[in-house]
Amino acid sequence: MANVVIAGMQWGDEGKGKIVDLICPAFDAVVRFQGGHNAGHTVKFGDKHFALRLIPSGILHEGMRCVLGNGMVIAPDAFLEELGELRDAGVDGDGRLFVSDRATVILPVHAALDQAREKARGADAIGTTSRGIGPAYESKASRYGLRVADLGAPDLVERLEGLLAVIRPQLADLGADLDADECDVAWLAEKCRGWAEALAPMVADTSGMLYELRREGANVLFEGAQGALLDIDHGTYPYVTSSNSTVGGAAPGAGVPPQTIDGGIGILKAYTTRVGAGPFVTELTGEIGEHLGRRGNEFGTVTGRPRRCGWLDLVAGRYTQRLNGVDGFALTKLDVMDELEEVQVCTAYRINGEERRDFPASRAEEEAAEPVYKTVPGWQANTVGILDFDDLPQAAKDYVALIEEELETPVLIVSTGPRREETILRRNLEAFQRVTGGRL
Ligand code: IMP
Repeated sequence: MANVVIAGMQWGDEGKGKIVDLICPAFDAVVRFQGGHNAGHTVKFGDKHFALRLIPSGILHEGMRCVLGNGMVIAPDAFLEELGELRDAGVDGDGRLFVSDRATVILPVHAALDQAREKARGADAIGTTSRGIGPAYESKASRYGLRVADLGAPDLVERLEGLLAVIRPQLADLGADLDADECDVAWLAEKCRGWAEALAPMVADTSGMLYELRREGANVLFEGAQGALLDIDHGTYPYVTSSNSTVGGAAPGAGVPPQTIDGGIGILKAYTTRVGAGPFVTELTGEIGEHLGRRGNEFGTVTGRPRRCGWLDLVAGRYTQRLNGVDGFALTKLDVMDELEEVQVCTAYRINGEERRDFPASRAEEEAAEPVYKTVPGWQANTVGILDFDDLPQAAKDYVALIEEELETPVLIVSTGPRREETILRRNLEAFQRVTGGRL
């Protein structure tokens, strides 16, 4: 197998960064295909700790080609800052880090609009990362957005005037400060020209580059951000992000034909977390939720917000696996559950007295849903750093088996700690060999 997509199976923060970093050696290039710096991928190995937002985790592997695809929304300042941090840490992207010329630019005015809207929503706020993701995708869909290739365009000023003509009245309605720099065409144009220059060595027709790589027989990893339940079409709308974070998004978001994608790995956290607002059927607001949050260090990589924690939801899991069709899962943060006496797993929802196994589309039904739990024993043993599946306590193995059975998908990788090294690779499974091409 050559081309594989990594996708989050829940509401993001499943630990994709660690898994991408881990399996990178089996691939020649890593591509991000949606989202922007709303994502936060944490990678730890040895005594090093990297929080990546825009740049694929593959950058930490020498010689690995890394691509920011056309489906992304890119804030150039954030990108350049991240690049600087990597350089300071001795990681160099020269000649192997590329930015799609067709990616959409997030301008500071998009972030201002995101923030002003969230403020105006009050108690109904979506809880966005306030990075301007939604407004930038809106500009793209409404066809007044600015793309990377246009940053130094001869008609840049006219384009920016067009964009501001749409956004300024919205900001004015929301009571935002229109005298701020980000609303000023001359200031924006100056910024854009600077970004055009700084990005120039990295800007490329990345779809064309991936075409050439495919012809050379290279193996490409597509790195999803967020998770399937935040997908703009399939997620818990309107509490979603503004892109397709499911496996299918990789084709348009990277500019590759869908039939060239050979498979997927779904990242599934052993319990559930969610940042921001929106229904969360298995949420635990008491002591156990706090314990998971504390032990799992469940604070947003981007915003630092505490994540809401809850039991594993297999109704959601069944739904997101139906959408993603991954070959296998990487089950993350199993060790975080080590101390629990018993563990609950949601196998169905009860909605208005009726037991349901499907994931509801309507917000009213999602909000009304109550979890139907299966209770299983906890393992109450230390699993941190276990490297061999056979060494897991029996109750932990049973928990993994329950997930495999309910979701009809094998667990290929089990993460037993935040570090790269703390991972069980189930190399004996046929699907593991298939998705890694036997190269891991
Ligand atoms: P936005 O993507 O900033 O517009 O935020 C929309 C929703 O997606 C909010 O609930 C965010 O908390 C959530 N979100 C966006 N990116 C991530 C992520 O990388 N991990 C988890 N949640 C995210």
